[in-house]
Amino acid sequence: MSTSSAPRTRVVVDVNPADTTDVLGEVHQATAADVEPAVARAKGAFEKWRDVPAPERGRVLGRAAAITRARADELARLLTREEGKTLADARGEIIRGAVLFEWFAGEGFRMGGRTRPSEMPSTLLFSLRQPLGVVAVITPWNFPWAEPVWKAGPAIVAGNAVILKPATLTPLLAQRCADILREAGLPDGVLQVLPGSGADVGDALVDHPDVRAISFTGSSAVGGDVYARAARRIAKVTCEMGGKNAVVVMPDADLDVAAAGIASGTFGSTGQRCTATSLCVAHRDIVKGLTERIVAHAKKLRIGNGLESGIDLGPLVDAHQLSSVLGYIEGARREGLQLATGGRRVSDGACERGFFVEPTVFIDVPPSARIAQEEVFGPVLAMIQVGSLDEALAVTNGVRYGLSSSIYASDASAIMRFIDRVEVGMVHVNSPTVGGEAQIPFGGIKWSGVGGREMAEEGLEFFTELKSVFFDYTGRARDSKIY
Ligand code: UN1
Repeated sequence: MSTSSAPRTRVVVDVNPADTTDVLGEVHQATAADVEPAVARAKGAFEKWRDVPAPERGRVLGRAAAITRARADELARLLTREEGKTLADARGEIIRGAVLFEWFAGEGFRMGGRTRPSEMPSTLLFSLRQPLGVVAVITPWNFPWAEPVWKAGPAIVAGNAVILKPATLTPLLAQRCADILREAGLPDGVLQVLPGSGADVGDALVDHPDVRAISFTGSSAVGGDVYARAARRIAKVTCEMGGKNAVVVMPDADLDVAAAGIASGTFGSTGQRCTATSLCVAHRDIVKGLTERIVAHAKKLRIGNGLESGIDLGPLVDAHQLSSVLGYIEGARREGLQLATGGRRVSDGACERGFFVEPTVFIDVPPSARIAQEEVFGPVLAMIQVGSLDEALAVTNGVRYGLSSSIYASDASAIMRFIDRVEVGMVHVNSPTVGGEAQIPFGGIKWSGVGGREMAEEGLEFFTELKSVFFDYTGRARDSKIY
């Protein structure tokens, strides 16, 4: 937290979106005035942290991973209360964070440049990977634990000092991440959490001349603005943004497997993930049978407070998201689109105190419809019929996003053609569009991402600068062969 003595002007009440009478706490909001002292403190911390050997920096993350695993149940409960996803989803997210800590702990041994033979005698030619200094990470509400971990983890092991601005709706998990890292041995000031609004704290971080890099995840509208602002002062940026992720189903697919994957990709985490499935592009020969199976899955889902056992579908995160998702559904109805299931708010019984919506499937959707083009960020699927793989590719690529996609099929040449031609950063075969793994790059193209991938070595590289070294170890003057 900031050490500023500036008056605290705003408090946000953090509530459970499944039951708004369940209050998690009141969170003081930082303001733009807190950014300057936080950056000054980070600069001081950076000077010492950069000198800690990288394997030792990694060990801090290793200990944080162990603490996380030991507290997974408690952290998952807090996550469910703060964000709304079911306990099973929340536990998955907590463990994913532990795995990311483990991966980036190992990077403390691996990070480095390379050596190459020189054109010149007695010359060592190598590159060094070095930290940037003070960096900002801005994280979204839908992965309130894993996102802070997967951005702060690589930044920290690379030797930077980090200022983390979590989403206004979900500050507590980000604070837990910082607490666990401190317990694991992270020195003071290497990670500071500044909860506050994007317009205030976020912009002040993005504009600060001493913040060398910004790693942002959120909407494409805000990401575009972050990218433009940072570009004006030549700061490094990575933006991970929205998605409109399609699953293509070919006639030779196993329809039971496909329907199960589409249902979990669409309705899991209540559709509130950038990798969620929101288009199903099905070959017309199997679309009827596939739709029946997906609808059967949707109807079986139990909606409610994710803290209760047996619940499959939690709430949307707040009233704003609820009205946005209902607005998309209403708009599709007005366009004359046909519902196969769902479409309504759920507000009976205990659901009255939360932001619940039914799992929803529209059929025969034209690719130009709004729900086939825009990111809905809710449990809503648009089914589109096609007659061939190339038509499926045209629909899948005909959106401005390019994050994730999937194909269910058996024919290897069709699958390979899809992998080759689909315009996304991540492609799945016979599995849902969601998720990622620490050891492989995560991110998208087009409106989904710019500035470099997250996770894996690439996620670390973003938080470093390369320095090329030309070292003549004899020091004898001679003609240079380098031009
Ligand atoms: C995932 O879907 O596995 O905002 C993670 C998001 C992403 C995280 C997605 N940055 O939804």
